[in-house]
Order: sequence, then structure tokens, then C-alpha cells
Amino acid sequence: MDFDALYRGESPGPGIPPMTTPPWDTKAPKENVIAWQTGGWVHGEVLDIGCGLGDNAIYLAQHGHRVTGLDISPTALITAERRAADAGVDVEFAAADATTLDGYTDAFDTVIDSGMFHCLDDDCKRSYAAAVHRASRPGATLLISCFSDANPPNEQWPRPAVSEQTLRDVLGGAGWDVESLEPATVRREMDGTETEMAFWYVRAQRRMSD
Ligand SMILES: C[S@@+](CC[C@H](N)C(=O)[O-])C[C@H]1O[C@@H](n2cnc3c(N)ncnc32)[C@H](O)[C@@H]1O
Repeated sequence: MDFDALYRGESPGPGIPPMTTPPWDTKAPKENVIAWQTGGWVHGEVLDIGCGLGDNAIYLAQHGHRVTGLDISPTALITAERRAADAGVDVEFAAADATTLDGYTDAFDTVIDSGMFHCLDDDCKRSYAAAVHRASRPGATLLISCFSDANPPNEQWPRPAVSEQTLRDVLGGAGWDVESLEPATVRREMDGTETEMAFWYVRAQRRMSD
């Protein structure tokens, strides 16, 4: 999937039509990010990985956090910067590939990932878990929201499916202790229709020793 093409309003891949507004562009922080913030799980230097159009990063900055928002799509980041300026907050936005995170080492205390993990194939998931481990500090918190494998097939919006075992294997294998892994059902309006989606909400801690 070519995310920059998608954000430019072009087809992101064979058989996928262009879209004017990506389905995740709710122009507001996602419910999972609000829950992480109000639950007290966001601390220190924050990375929003796969930040997209920036609304989650902006919300956390509005709550007093220092936030870096990284995304593979430079086009998305132009909108994210404009939204942050409109909101009157400082967020450091930059283009980066989550599977390498070149230039970021020992830099973050909290990493939030709202809807990016499920975009990656199995090899990229493992590279991502290792890259985020290197980019964060010992004891850091990783907060992920991703599609679960409980969603029924949907031809119009095919959703990647992530199993509990994949999350445990990928994160555990890269030096993360999974502390909480909860199923969640989220209702969102898409194309004027209310749609129910099954997610995993994950909280993991970076091991001190590796
Ligand atoms: C479903 S969107 C979620 C965006 C945002 N986090 C939100 O909650 O609205 C997934 C985002 O991940 C980004 N992404 C996909 N693969 C990536 C990668 N390898 N590195 C960095 N960002 C990536 C996409 O460009 C897209 O903005």
C-alpha cells in the first residue's frame, strides 16, 4: 500500500480506488489515545509512530506532552503540520519509516501507535518492534491499537487481521513485555454509515535488560 499516494488522493495500490478522505481521518484524537492519556499511560518524551494527519499527536501536545510525530507519508505530514499550527501547539513532525527509525536511538519514553501496526507485513512487524525498541529508553511504554482477527470479512473495506499470538510473538521477541492486551469494539462513521470494528489495545513495557 502506497500511503503517500493515498494521501495525495491517488490510488494506493492495484484494485484500490483513490479516496478523498481516508477512513481514519476523524479530525479528532482516537478513542484509544484519549483512554491512554486519561489512564495516565503517556509519560516523558512521546513518539506517535504512523501519526498520519496528526490529530493524536496534537491532542497529546495539548495535554502538555512533548511529542514527535513520524509517518512514512510526507503528504500526510503537511496536513499534520497545518493542523498543529491551527491548534497552536508545537509537535515535531518528520518523515520516517517505522521499520527502521533511522536516526532515533534511546529517545522516547512512550510510543503510541494508533492503527499502524496492522499495516505492516510479518517481517516488517518484527523490524518495527526492534526499531521501536532501539528508539526508546529502558522501561518505555509502547501503546498499540490495531485491528484484531475478530473482524468479519468486508469487501468494501478489507481489514488486516492481527492475532493475539502475533502480537505476543512479535513484541516479546523484540524485548517488550506485554502487560495488557485487551479486545475492544469501536464504532465509527464511515461513508455516512456507522461501522463496528474489532481492535486490540496493547500496552507493553520495554525490558530493562535488553
Ligand atoms: C491507518 S493510518 C493511522 C493514522 C493515525 N495514527 C490515526 O490514528 O489516524 C496508518 C498510518 O501509518 C502510516 N504508515 C504505514 N506504514 C508506515 C511505515 N512503515 N512507517 C511509518 N508510517 C507508516 C501511514 O502513512 C498512515 O498514516
